[in-house]
Parts: sequence; C-alpha cells; structure tokens
Amino acid sequence: MIVLVTGSNGLLGQKIIEQLKNKDNKIIATSKGSNRNSNNNSFIYEDLDITNKEQLSFVLKKYKPEVVFNTAAMTNVDLCELEKDLCKKVNVKAVEYLADICFDLDAHLIHISTDFIFDGNDGPYNEDDIACPLSFYGQSKLDSENILKSHKCKWTILRTIVLFGVGKNLTKSNIVLWAKEQLENSKVINIIDDEFRAPTLADDLAYACIYSAKNKVFGVYHASGKDIMSIYDMVISIANYFNLDKNLVNRISSKELSQVANRPKKTGFVLEKAKQQLNYHPKSFNDSLMYIDKQLTNQNN
Ligand SMILES: NC(=O)c1ccc[n+]([C@@H]2O[C@H](COP(=O)([O-])OP(=O)(O)OC[C@H]3O[C@@H](n4cnc5c(N)ncnc54)[C@H](OP(=O)(O)O)[C@@H]3O)[C@@H](O)[C@H]2O)c1
Repeated sequence: MIVLVTGSNGLLGQKIIEQLKNKDNKIIATSKGSNRNSNNNSFIYEDLDITNKEQLSFVLKKYKPEVVFNTAAMTNVDLCELEKDLCKKVNVKAVEYLADICFDLDAHLIHISTDFIFDGNDGPYNEDDIACPLSFYGQSKLDSENILKSHKCKWTILRTIVLFGVGKNLTKSNIVLWAKEQLENSKVINIIDDEFRAPTLADDLAYACIYSAKNKVFGVYHASGKDIMSIYDMVISIANYFNLDKNLVNRISSKELSQVANRPKKTGFVLEKAKQQLNYHPKSFNDSLMYIDKQLTNQNN
C-alpha cells in the first residue's frame, strides 16, 4: 500500500508506522515541524501542517496515497476550550480539506474520534448511540465525524479512549508513562476516582486502523481497551504492576481538580462490531502494562 500518515510525531502515528514498516508499504510520514520519530529510512518524511490547505493538497497529490491515516489533532482537551479557533482549524476544517482531497484521489481516509462525543451518562456506548459532547474538543470531533458522514469520499472513523503507549520524543505524555514517572520520582499525585474510562493501548488501535485499510472496511467503529475503570484504579494498577508506592496516590473527586473543560463521567465502548469486523481483540489493561514494560526494557537495552 502507499499510505500517508498525518501527525506522525504523535503516539498513534508512530504506532501505525511501526506496524506498517518493512512490509512492502510505501509510507509517507507527515507532521507539523521536523520529524521526531526514529529516522531509520523506513519512511519518507514531509513537514505538513494539516490546516494549510494548499500544502496538504500539494503533498497528497505528490504521493497519491491509497490510504490516509489522519492521526493529527489538537488533543489537549482543556487547551481546545481556551483556543477554540485553532481547535476548529485542526480538528474540523482540516478534516474537510482531507476528505475533499481524498475524494479527488480516490483514497481511503481513516480518521480517529473520541469517547468525548458522548455525555457519559450511559456508558459503555454503542456506535449508533446519540452523541452529546460536553466540551469544545468533543464537539470538534463530532463535527469532524459529521463532515465525513455526509462526504462522498471513502472513510472510516475509529473512536477511541485514553490512549497510552511508548513513543519517541512525544510532546504529550500519557496516563501510564506519566503516573509511572511521577511515582518513580516519589511525587504525590492527585487522581480522580469519579470518572470512568476504557484505556487503550495505542498499538491495539494501530492494528485496527491498519486492518480497516487493508480490508477496505468503512463506517464507524469503537476501538478502545476492554477494561472500564476509574482513573484512580488505572493509576493503582500502574503502581501495583511496576511495584511503586500506592500511598503516593491521593484519591480526589473531579470537582476538586476543576479542569477547564467538562468531561463525561463514565464512557467505555461496546466493542462487538470492531471484534467481528476488524478482528479487534484488545489486551486487558494489565497485559498492556506488561507489553509496555517489555518495550521500555528493550528501549533501554
Ligand atoms: N490521546 C488520547 O487519549 C485520545 C483519546 C481519544 C481520541 N484520541 C484521538 O486519537 C488521535 C491520535 O491521538 P494521539 O494521542 O496519538 O495524539 P498526539 O500524540 O497528540 O499526536 C497528535 C499529533 O498531531 C500533531 N499535530 C497537531 N496539530 C497539527 C497540525 N496542524 N498539522 C499536523 N500535525 C499536527 C501533533 O504535533 P506535535 O507533536 O508537534 O504537537 C502530534 O504529533 C487524535 O485524533 C485524538 O483526537 C486521542
């Protein structure tokens, strides 16, 4: 396949490339600014800001990918609340540009959305449950979904929840690496116990993205981890697995944290559709920690 990945410096972008390399695929990795993923000649890199329509059109028409994985996004939920115009440009308008160009090229656009399109009153959610975002980020992702749903291009939307994994030079940490690092440095951390999610190993999601590309599976899919738990329980599991001091973990409520954006109470996804149609069988949270542990050990050797 000729594939183009947007946001290749990000966690999911890196995982998709890792799984596609050395397999007769021509990979065009693109992200804003210079390449921060490993430079091992397995891909061509282009500096590409997806909000720049001309640049986007130029790069896509230059390589004519059969598949475009759109992993680029403004993913900081609180920042999206504060910088709404930028959020709209990256998370909504750029998706419309991508859809238009993919239609012209007859390319398959694989786009990532979120559990934050739901209000969290009735989780776990099915693909066709009614969306009702509580945050600007959630609304922007829902808007991007609606653009694709009414577009003539070939599209797949994979919705996911709290991504985590090991990446190179990431600008943003994730729950597992962050909690592990804090506890290793004997820092006391305040963790909320009244929001529930199904944390997702980025490697599992990358597999589902690639499966939908290879098998030309279109439509909306839920692809998260299979264990739904409070953020507090996630951090306790992380502490337990890595043998770190649980007494450093302070249990607090979301009210006490007073984050800028509102967040859903309980999400989680029903995964049946992805299991049946994308061969998606995510690891348990504990097995994911074991998987990450091995990756970190290999990275350090
Ligand atoms: N992370 C989660 O917990 C989570 C949960 C649900 C859904 N999702 C969705 O999953 C997808 C992948 O998430 P992720 O965690 O892999 O995100 P990530 O690590 O934040 O990666 C996103 C990448 O996009 C890049 N980017 C930002 N603006 C750009 C622009 N204008 N043009 C080109 N690249 C741009 C970022 O660049 P810099 O590195 O330079 O900032 C970053 O490398 C996103 O669509 C996200 O909304 C994520």
